[in-house]
Amino acid sequence: PSKQRLLVVANRLPVAAVRKGEDSWQLEISAGGLVTALLGVNEFETRWIGWAGVNVPDEVGQRSLTKALAEKRCIPVFLDEEVVHQYYNGYCNNILWPLFHYLGLPQEDRLATTRSFQSQFSAYKKANQMFADVVNEHYEDGDVVWCHDYHLMFLPKCLKEYNIEMKVGWFLHTPFPSSEIHRTLPSRSELLRSVLAADLVGFHTYDYARHFVSACTRILGLEGTPEGVEDQGKLTRVAAFPIGIDSNRFIRALELPEVKDHIRELKERFAGRKVMLGVDRLDMIKGIPQKILAFEKFLEENPVWRDKVVLLQIAVPTRTDVPEYQKLTCQVHEIVGRINGRFGTLTAVPIHHLDRSLDFHALCALYAVTDVALVTSLRDGMNLVSYEFVACQDEKKGVLILSEFAGAAQSLGAGAILVNPWNITEVAASIGYALTMPADEREKRHQHNFMHVTIHTSQEWAETFVSELNDTVVEAQLRT
Ligand code: UDP
Ligand code: G6P
Repeated sequence: PSKQRLLVVANRLPVAAVRKGEDSWQLEISAGGLVTALLGVNEFETRWIGWAGVNVPDEVGQRSLTKALAEKRCIPVFLDEEVVHQYYNGYCNNILWPLFHYLGLPQEDRLATTRSFQSQFSAYKKANQMFADVVNEHYEDGDVVWCHDYHLMFLPKCLKEYNIEMKVGWFLHTPFPSSEIHRTLPSRSELLRSVLAADLVGFHTYDYARHFVSACTRILGLEGTPEGVEDQGKLTRVAAFPIGIDSNRFIRALELPEVKDHIRELKERFAGRKVMLGVDRLDMIKGIPQKILAFEKFLEENPVWRDKVVLLQIAVPTRTDVPEYQKLTCQVHEIVGRINGRFGTLTAVPIHHLDRSLDFHALCALYAVTDVALVTSLRDGMNLVSYEFVACQDEKKGVLILSEFAGAAQSLGAGAILVNPWNITEVAASIGYALTMPADEREKRHQHNFMHVTIHTSQEWAETFVSELNDTVVEAQLRT
C-alpha cells in the first residue's frame, strides 16, 4: 500500500535558507528538538510547510526559493519583516515561550510587552492564517495535517474553517504550564478555543496534558473527560505522546571513520582530564548561567579537580533579534570569563564556551568522549540532547546529570542523577558524585537509559500520534 500523506506544519522548516544571489540559495539544517525529531520520521509521504527563516520580498527570490525547497519536500510560507518582528520575535518568543516555561514576562520590558500584546496577538493570528492558506493550497483529500508547537495555536481553527473534514492534529513541543499561569494571558480563551478545533492534541508528558485540560475546564468552563475535552458533545482528544530520537542514526554515526578520527583527536586533546559537556541553544530556559555557577562552586570546593576536569559548553545562537536573548549572551560571556580568569592557568582554562553550532558528526564525537553530561534546564518540554548523549555512550557509559524540570526526567529519571538546577549546591555535589561514580553503577544507570532511548524512537512517536489521529476521526464519525 502507498504511504499515507502527511503535511507537517511548523514555523521552522528543517532547513533555513541563506541567499547567495538573486536566485541562488544555500540551505542549512535548522537546530532544535522539533526538527531533529521530525527528521527521523519516514513512515509517511511527508511534506513540510513552514518559514525558511529569511525575508524574501521579491518575486524572483520567492520563486527560486520555492523551487530549491521543493527538492527537500519543503513548502515555504513567506512572512514579511514586520510580521516576523511582531509574531515570531514578539508574541511567540517574547510572550508565549517564557510564559510556557514559567519564566514570566521579560522583567525590564514588562510594561512595554503589556502594551504591545494586542498588536502582537493580531500579527500572530495573521501569521497563522498565512500558514493555513498555504496548507489549504496543498491539501489533498485524506491527508493528515499535523500542526506543531506554540507558534501555531491558531492554525487548527483556521484549517477547520477551510475544511471541516480535514484531519487536524496539534502537538506542543514545550511544557503546557499550570492553568494559573495560562490564565494571565490576555488571549487565554481564544488560544485554547482554537487549539480545541483540532481532532487530537498532544503533549510530551501526562502533566502537560493535564494542565491543558484543566485550563480548558477552568478558563472556558468546558468538561474534562479521561479522553480529552468536551464542548457540546464534540470531543477533542487530548493525550501524552513522549517524543524520542532516531537513536540508530547516532549509533551508526559513531562507526564512521570521520567520526572515529574526531573522537581520537578529542581524546588526545583532553587526555588526563575528565570531560563534562553541555549542549544547548543559548536560551534562558536552559539554565546555562546556573550550570556554570554550579561548576564554579564545584571547582571552588574541590581544588584537586581544578586541572583534571573541563566543561565544554556548546551554546547555539538562537532568536538573536529578541533583546532577552541578547542579554543572556552577555551574561553568560561575563560569567565564563570571570571563572576562567579565576581558575585558568597559562596553558588551560576550565570552561570552553562556544557560541556556535556543530555539525552532526562533530556533535556525535563530542557526545561519545564525554564523561558527564550536564542538562540544567529550568523548564524544558522534553530535552533531546539528553537522549542523544545516552545514544552515543554505549562504550563509555558516562553519567547524565539531568534537571528534574525537563520532560526527559520522567523517562530517564532512573538512570540519570536528577537535580534542581536552581540549587547550585546540589548540582555541584552531583558533579562530584558523577565524576567519581564506580563503573558498575555507571553501567547500570546507562543500561536503563539506553534501553529507553533505543526503544522509544521519534519514528514510533510519529506513528503513534498519526494512528491515534486517524482513529480519533473514525470514532468521531461513528458517534455522529
Ligand atoms: N543541535 C543542533 N546543532 C548544534 C547543537 C545541537 O542542531 O550545534 C540539536 C541537538 O542535536 C538536538 C537539538 O538541537 O537535537 C536540541 O533539542 P532539545 O530538545 O535538546 O532542545 P530545543 O533546542 O528543542 O529546546
Ligand atoms: C524549540 C521549539 C521549536 C523551535 C526550536 C528552535 O525546540 O520547540 O519550535 O523550532 O526551539 O527555535 P527557533 O526559534 O530557531 O525555531
